[in-house]
Amino acid sequence: MKSLVISLGGSVLVPNLSENRILEYAAVLRQVSEKHRTYVVVGGGGEARRYIDAMRNLGVDEGTCDEIGILVTRLNATLLIAALGDSAYPGVAEDQKTALEYAVSGRIVVMGGVTPAQTTDAVAAVLAERTRADILVNLTSVDGIYSADPKTDSSATRYTHLTPERLAEIVGESSLNAGSNTVMDEIAVKIIQRSGIPLIVLDGRKPENLPNAIISGRLNGTIVSSDNNTKYLPL
Ligand code: UTP
Repeated sequence: MKSLVISLGGSVLVPNLSENRILEYAAVLRQVSEKHRTYVVVGGGGEARRYIDAMRNLGVDEGTCDEIGILVTRLNATLLIAALGDSAYPGVAEDQKTALEYAVSGRIVVMGGVTPAQTTDAVAAVLAERTRADILVNLTSVDGIYSADPKTDSSATRYTHLTPERLAEIVGESSLNAGSNTVMDEIAVKIIQRSGIPLIVLDGRKPENLPNAIISGRLNGTIVSSDNNTKYLPL
């Protein structure tokens, strides 16, 4: 059985509590988990940023702001577990070792953040390394990795494939402040570089992009790997 770790951006799962894609994601996650061992790391989304802003306005340090962000990622993970029902292990893993233990159940394992000064992308990259995952998937609010930020630079072009080294150059300038938003966090990229696990970046605003890539091999996004081909899909 192959295994995959999914970094499921809070910005696509729960942009805010009243408009969310939790049920849609429960359906596609069940679909991929029928064939593959599946781990999901859930991000904080809009609600995390609102809590972080409220915390920062109280004049506290960034690490304390990160702590409230982590709490929100775990709340979002709790919602996803509820929607997955019997398909998921009924608890949020609070670190990667616990996720490995929960995986013995054979069910989907869901976790959120772990420790300050990183994002759930880094949590997912470490989990992929520790579970020897065949692939790491980042479901985020852009449709792949661009040469520059497509939201602010109209000349940005989308990569179909790039190396982990090129990805490191692209994210090199990003900020580490609580709630900061880049396509992939720098720590995650370093772990991808050292582990050699291929990464695919997909537009998470369309949940069907996940089974399309993993089950049908139709990639609508970017693959990051040191070798220049798409032999990794379908998984
Ligand atoms: P994320 O930035 O991972 O959430 O965590 P996100 O919403 O998935 O990001 P998108 O959707 O990919 O854009 C939210 C915040 O929680 C804190 C950080 O402050 C982060 O910005 N956090 C999260 C940590 O400090 N440590 C963690 O392990 C995870």
